[in-house]
Amino acid sequence: MKYTAIVLAAGKGKRMNSSVQKQFIELNGYPLIYYALCTFEKSMVDEIILVTGKDEAEYCRREIVERYQFQKVRKIVHGGAERYLSVYEGLCAINNTDVVLIHDGARPFVTEDIIERTIDAAVKYGSGIAAVPSKDTVKIVDENHFAVQTPSRDCVWMMQTPQTFRYQDIRQAYEKVLERQIQNITDDAMVLELALQKPVKIVEGSYFNLKVTTPEDLLIASTFVKNGSDNP
Ligand code: CTP
Ligand code: MG
Repeated sequence: MKYTAIVLAAGKGKRMNSSVQKQFIELNGYPLIYYALCTFEKSMVDEIILVTGKDEAEYCRREIVERYQFQKVRKIVHGGAERYLSVYEGLCAINNTDVVLIHDGARPFVTEDIIERTIDAAVKYGSGIAAVPSKDTVKIVDENHFAVQTPSRDCVWMMQTPQTFRYQDIRQAYEKVLERQIQNITDDAMVLELALQKPVKIVEGSYFNLKVTTPEDLLIASTFVKNGSDNP
């Protein structure tokens, strides 16, 4: 079986509000994207497709892939305007594989265990999505911000990445969804659900596996790095 990881780093990081795109912000001496690439490099994954903005591709090749000698990065491809379009570019860059792991480059603290759990589930059930139970109660609100529904907390999980699938399934699902011009696609599991009407399998992620999204996440991430929590 061949396993391919798509690592996404083509976002603008608007919610971070910083001059440097968040995936390149320095965290303990290394660009943020370095951490996830390091873990995939060490893992059971065979190859990595790195998706970056058009203007950042050359910088990534020179300053990240070559500098830190990531041997498994096979291709650097240009992403799209939305996350799901970047994923699709990554999927199209794969020649031949069995299982594909889609990972947010903005999640530095993915571990080899999490990677393995998502792969095992994808082989067995067709999908393996890293996630954690919600610590907070979640409410669905209407357009005027009145709470209209409170799902039972036991049933609410927060989706993370990697989100891992059989390659043919997710590629076909993406093609269907793009053809139908469905908007507001915020994760890959949704694509499989919409296209194949098939439930995805959730596996245990980690509360360390946060997505660096807003400025306070950087403070948390730097604490995790200093305490060696990048690979617990
Ligand atoms: N991403 C991408 N291409 C896009 C948008 C996002 O490759 N067009 C990547 C980001 O680089 C990130 C991951 O998808 O690693 C998760 O997205 P998110 O946290 O939303 O990052 P941004 O879109 O960059 O941030 P924001 O939504 O705040 O602008
Ligand atoms: Mg975004």
